[in-house]
Amino acid sequence: MGFGILLKAITLWLVLVLSSVGKSNAGFGLRLGLSKASHNRKSHESGHAPKGYHGKSRHFKGRRVGHGSNKPPSFVPPINTSSPPNLPPNKYTSSPSRPSGLQVGFYKGLCPNRLVDIESTLITKVQQQFRQDPTILPALLRMQFHDCFVHGCDASILINGPSTEKTAGPNLSVRGYALIDALKDIAEEQCPGVVSCADIIAIATKQVIKMGGGPDYSVQTGRNDGLVSRAQDVNLPSPFLTVSESISAFDAKRFTTEEMVILLGCHTVGISQCTFFQDRLYQGNTQFDPKMDPILRKQLQPTCPKGTTSNNNSTFLDQNPQSSNKLDNSFFVQILNQRGILPIDQALARHPQTIAFVQQFARSATLFNNKLASAMVKLQALDVLTGNQGQIRKTCSRIN
Ligand code: HEM
Repeated sequence: MGFGILLKAITLWLVLVLSSVGKSNAGFGLRLGLSKASHNRKSHESGHAPKGYHGKSRHFKGRRVGHGSNKPPSFVPPINTSSPPNLPPNKYTSSPSRPSGLQVGFYKGLCPNRLVDIESTLITKVQQQFRQDPTILPALLRMQFHDCFVHGCDASILINGPSTEKTAGPNLSVRGYALIDALKDIAEEQCPGVVSCADIIAIATKQVIKMGGGPDYSVQTGRNDGLVSRAQDVNLPSPFLTVSESISAFDAKRFTTEEMVILLGCHTVGISQCTFFQDRLYQGNTQFDPKMDPILRKQLQPTCPKGTTSNNNSTFLDQNPQSSNKLDNSFFVQILNQRGILPIDQALARHPQTIAFVQQFARSATLFNNKLASAMVKLQALDVLTGNQGQIRKTCSRIN
């Protein structure tokens, strides 16, 4: 009798032990399944892929509880982010969470293949493009400015459509879209749904600045793409503004007068069409500039005959022929010598609120370089969308 009870007790104990082993195996299997599911979900949600994916544990918890599993919470296996020890290392494991906010090296380890350094891959392509056509430098600088000053740096300038920002007057001569599209193709191939178009503009602009002789600063990434792009919102400063009006326009975007002067120093590269300066060349026009260097005026007149309406005629914004394509401080020397092209550029060297900055930057290339780096970081961070805001576009010219 006593032996019978002992036998039953041993059998019961054995059953309990075996069933607990079975459960823990099921838990392990489930853990693997979850890990894969999370990876797939990330790719599928793309477009705005890893958005809302700030913390793995929160995400998993939310999914399991929120999706109404009938199992009691005690059956939810513990989340184990480390790989099971008996599986070969898998380089395509799920990407870690997408941090919120801008930071240098944001994309490190965020691609499905964590070994891919997507920023360096993009940089290689930008380098190739720059070597083929260095005018990509002014093109991207201007694109970056025009994007950031309208709804922040959110790639809203890239959207195609009948009345998007791209179609607004000041943006009609913005160039560089093909390179951004090519970079996006590379990003989507190697890292689908992860890299924003806004970051692609920032990475490419930073790289061409460096290659064009400007500062080599660390570019921050982590921007998301915007959902709004309307021509009517494009309210960029005009080249015919007074210095005071221009200061107000930059102040509205939280830039100091000095930062405005520095950023306008980007007119040390690139070109302007006649329409923006031809009236300064001819006596009798209200815009005629008697103080312009007379040698320059003579040189510009054949390029921009009186009353020309052609968009094809243009000249360098920096009239130092040795440095028209170099991102240096030569622009400041030129405007001090009354050789500025745009009315606003020349006005900087004549206005009491800006002339001291112009003189400083004309004297010191290093000072301009250092301050340009900070101003670019600030410009590229202007009103950015991060975290759950906006989306990661699949195609830069279309909202998902
Ligand atoms: C008051 C502010 C500004 C005004 C009024 C202004 C105006 C202009 C104008 C009228 C042109 C000639 C466009 C054409 O001919 O189609 C131009 C070109 C350019 N702007 Fe500005 N700009 C301003 C600020 C900036 C800033 C802050 C940057 C860069 C951070 C910038 C970068 C450039 C570049 C690089 C070009 C040459 C583009 C090319 O060669 O394709 N501009 N700008």
